[in-house]
Amino acid sequence: MIKLEDYTKYHFDMEEELQDANKYPEIIQHKIEHQEFIDKLTSLKRDSKKDNLLLSLKTVDYLKDWTINHILESDKDFGEYLRNIEGF
Ligand SMILES: [Fe+2]
Ligand SMILES: [Fe+2]
Repeated sequence: MIKLEDYTKYHFDMEEELQDANKYPEIIQHKIEHQEFIDKLTSLKRDSKKDNLLLSLKTVDYLKDWTINHILESDKDFGEYLRNIEGF
């Protein structure tokens, strides 16, 4: 079974490669957003080991909101950018 962390890194790498190959002008900001998510995932893992349930729930909430906002805004913007590239 694939872990959330592994799949997330795989997904972000694929997306960033596609952005790089298509000279996406917002790639730096997009990468920063991806890195923020990975950092939070790492802290979630650390907190769950300490059994800090309250902090973990807060982090899970953050991850959920981040995912919804990122897909609906940043990933959507990139999709629109790709659609406007001639021949894509
Ligand atoms: Fe993304
Ligand atoms: Fe994505």
